[in-house]
Parts: sequence; structure tokens; C-alpha cells
Amino acid sequence: MSERLLGDAVRSVFVSGGAGFIGSHLLDMLLGQGYRVTAYDNLSNGRREFIEHHFDDPAFRFVEGDMLDLERVVRELEGHDLAWHLAANTDIIGCHERPERDLRDCVEATFNMVEAMRRVGVRDIIFSSTGAVYGDLCLDRATSEEAGPLLPISGYAAGKIGSEAFISSYCHMYGLRGWMFRFGNVIGGRMTHGVIYDFINKLRRNPRELEILGDGTQEKNYFLVEECIDGMGFAYRNIAMDEEHPCDVFNLGTDSVTPVVKIARIVIEEMGLEGVEVKIAGTPRAWPGDQPRVHITVDRMRELGWTARLSSDEAVRRAVRRMLGKEE
Ligand SMILES: NC(=O)c1ccc[n+]([C@@H]2O[C@H](COP(=O)([O-])OP(=O)(O)OC[C@H]3O[C@@H](n4cnc5c(N)ncnc54)[C@H](O)[C@@H]3O)[C@@H](O)[C@H]2O)c1
Repeated sequence: MSERLLGDAVRSVFVSGGAGFIGSHLLDMLLGQGYRVTAYDNLSNGRREFIEHHFDDPAFRFVEGDMLDLERVVRELEGHDLAWHLAANTDIIGCHERPERDLRDCVEATFNMVEAMRRVGVRDIIFSSTGAVYGDLCLDRATSEEAGPLLPISGYAAGKIGSEAFISSYCHMYGLRGWMFRFGNVIGGRMTHGVIYDFINKLRRNPRELEILGDGTQEKNYFLVEECIDGMGFAYRNIAMDEEHPCDVFNLGTDSVTPVVKIARIVIEEMGLEGVEVKIAGTPRAWPGDQPRVHITVDRMRELGWTARLSSDEAVRRAVRRMLGKEE
């Protein structure tokens, strides 16, 4: 049997954002491997139907709660061995209209996570950051963890940089240990946002035409949700943190990218459509704060012994098929 995701020293895991896309897959994996799990989610974007198949499992507890309610987080967190902090505002496009969400649901939520950890003595945190922190640095060259200065071009990226900063400071000041991951685009079944989700919905509404936002040159790094979770677990098990070096940050994804026009082609093919007119909107960015091209190096994780198994293109096809119900 392959190694358990978090090894055997961890028994109970607090997953913030546990009813979301990545969170619900994480619950499936953790509960399947015999961990006790609390999912804490305010269901602002998560869905009960993603997790309700676990409701009868005595090892599982769902708490419908908000990360902004610090006292509640403190109460619910107590007694766990590790916090896996996924809760965040993920409506990157909508943030242009409501920028305060990135401050609240990213920065303040993360502050509350680490403050609750400090108060109840939970030491270890795994955190989902993003390649978006690199802003325009990663437009045309592959960007490593050392790149800087980090000048965010969206509220979402600003919220993640703020979150990384609080986690790092708590690790250094209060003895926490942190594993932070800057993801490429994570894809799979149960997506509630993103380009694949959008293309499928647009083509269901109008199977004759597909409009691609932006200038059509977008290309990003895509990898499957189970690979993302596996990579984080690998780092947690194999990369030790100590007093001298209590936290670190790792890019996580594939070393390839998929152009947006190719995603359109794969979606059209898998939906079995013919004669679709693909139109390019022709604006420089798909939305304010969009990074049209995202290139991150995953050399560091490779040197440490982990790589994604599927290329970005293969991951896209698998995710499209899952979203269409053609495979599990
Ligand atoms: N999916 C990706 O491609 C990707 C890429 C980079 C980083 N990430 C990060 O991974 C994490 C999970 O992303 P996802 O794709 O599963 O998104 P998601 O929106 O499905 O999951 C986030 C969850 O957090 C919950 N949430 C939001 N604010 C909350 C709050 N104040 N209190 C409690 N719960 C709250 C939502 O209801 C949702 O279930 C996020 O932190 C996201 O920023 C995702």
C-alpha cells in the first residue's frame, strides 16, 4: 500500500474550505486513509453535495462556520494535529467589484487560522497560495520561488501574499510550522469556476459559438486536483521544518502549459460538437487582474523528489471528461 498522505503521526485534520472543489477531494482522500477530519466552511462557494457522502462517517465532522468568526475557529480547531487551510475568496473576477473580499476571506481568514492555532497549540499548517503572487513576472519566463519583488496585479494575489506573510510571521514568532504552496491551475471534477467550467457552460447554452475572453494568447499551467493534494502531502512528509527554518514556499504544478485555444478545442471535441465558431474577444486581459500567461518552474519540488505525472494537456482532457461525467 502506498504511504498515507500525512504519515502516521497525524491523526486528525482541520480542513478550512473543506466543502470546496479542492477541499472536498481532500476529504475523500483523508477519510479514505483513516484520518479524522473536520471540514470548516461557510458554504459561500462550497457545496454540501460535494461532501454529504461523508455525513454518516463517524470520523468526519462538518462545521458550517465562517473563518471570520475567530472564537468559533478556536473552539472547532482545538484537538486537531494539523490545519489544512484552503478557505479563501476564489472569485477572482468578481473581486474587481468587491475588493474587500480578498482582505476579509484571504488575509483576515488566514490571520484567524494562525491566531487560532497559536491559542490552542496546533503547530502545523499547510496552505494553498497561488502562482498569481508573481503577477507579471511570470508572463513570459518561468518563475521560481525566489522571484521578486512580488507586485500583485489582483486583489486575489494581494490577499495570498498577505496570507503567506502572516503564516511566515506566526511560524517565526510562535513556533508554528508552515508548508505553503503556490499552485498552477488546479482542475478536475466538481469545479465551480475557471476556464473549463466556463467553456462547457457557454457551449451548453450555445453549441454553435464559443467566445474566448482576452487576446487568445493565454497559456497556463494545469494539473489535476489529486496530483495537487499528493504534492502537498509529499512535501509535508518529506520536507522537515524546524526552529531555524519553520516554514517554506513551493511552486506546485506541471512543467508544461496549455494554450487557451487548445482548451477550447479539447472541450469542443469531448462535447462531440462540430462547426463551432471560436471567437477571440481581442482585449489584452480577459478581466482586470487576469494573468494571461502563467509560467512557474517546478524545479524545486522535482529536486525534492516530486513531479506531477500528467502533462498540462493531459490533465485538461481528463478534467473536461470528468466535468462532462464521462469519467470519474
Ligand atoms: N483551484 C485552483 O486552481 C487554485 C489555484 C491556486 C490556489 N487555489 C487555492 O486553493 C484553495 C481552494 O480553492 P478551490 O479551487 O477549492 O476553491 P473553492 O472556492 O471551491 O474553495 C474555497 C472554499 O472556501 C470556503 N470559504 C470562503 N471564504 C470562507 C470563509 N470566510 N469562511 C469559511 N469558508 C470560506 C468556500 O465556501 C469554499 O468552499 C483556495 O485557497 C484557493 O485560493 C486554488
